Amino acid sequence: MAKIVLAMATTHGPQLHTTVEQWQLRVKADKARKHPFRNGVYSFDELVDMRRDEGLDAKSSMQAQKTYHARCQAAMETLADKWEAAGADVAVILGNDQDEIYKTGELNPAFMVFFGDTIPSYPQTEEDKAKLPPGVADAEHGHAAKSYKEYRGVPDLGMHIIKTLTEHDFDVAASKVWPAHARNGASHAFGHIYRQVMRDNVVPNVPIYQNTFFPPNQPTAKRSYQFGEIVKKAIDSWDSDKRVAVFASGGMSHFVIDEAFDRKFVAALKQRDKAFLISIPLKELQSGTSELKSWISLAGLLEDAAADMNEIDYVPCYRSPAGTGTANGFYWWDLQS
Ligand SMILES: [Fe+2]
Repeated sequence: MAKIVLAMATTHGPQLHTTVEQWQLRVKADKARKHPFRNGVYSFDELVDMRRDEGLDAKSSMQAQKTYHARCQAAMETLADKWEAAGADVAVILGNDQDEIYKTGELNPAFMVFFGDTIPSYPQTEEDKAKLPPGVADAEHGHAAKSYKEYRGVPDLGMHIIKTLTEHDFDVAASKVWPAHARNGASHAFGHIYRQVMRDNVVPNVPIYQNTFFPPNQPTAKRSYQFGEIVKKAIDSWDSDKRVAVFASGGMSHFVIDEAFDRKFVAALKQRDKAFLISIPLKELQSGTSELKSWISLAGLLEDAAADMNEIDYVPCYRSPAGTGTANGFYWWDLQS
């Protein structure tokens, strides 16, 4: 039977692939819209007022931002080294999508497992790039191939995961051909793993998509956790001698950083605190922070894992005194023995 040898949870996102000077472009967008934060939704100026005592002026200074940037680059290198050392044959990647494959309001499955042969990756058109918020298109190289490329899926594992989920009462969507209208082929959640962790030496993999972001059919934390438990059953019962790596790609708190929440979340992940993880209300898992649902699925998958979580780094990459930015975290589990 297949064996899980490695697990990783990592954030992804534009701030990991752009300079701190380019981060400033995002601040303009931050000021132009309202942001979910804790139990409410606030403007940029309201956040600056509310968070005045948190020292965010210093935490978002250019000097601080340069430190965050360097720490994130170092952590990504460490994660990639761990990946290489583990020598996994195939990967299962838990991620999400942001209007890249599934257009909001058109058709958006709560959960989707890909069981096709081929996963494309390519740069988006100039027309699509022009539609993106400032500072986002500059980061494309971090998650998409520079020219058309195809990676290999694992159809029999994908099929086995779908069947196992169905047998355990998950009515999961199944996709055999990557949609041709997808902006970059593989969504950034998967492309980040291909480019940054696997350093373009991409092993055959099963992308698993979860609609973390978009109402009205976002899964609850409890459902995300259960999903991971069943995916684990599927990998364990896959009739193969392959060494499998599992990934969660997304999170942590963004686009408003909440260090207290992230710390609580990481502690629960480390301590395998299922009760905490399944009870996080949906209102706290909105916008970019919603991507932590992929991590909650990973927690379900690793419930009985023989090894504990290792932290490489946690870096709250503030880009403004309102606390906007992305908190980045890099974690891994050595399951070789
Ligand atoms: Fe994302």
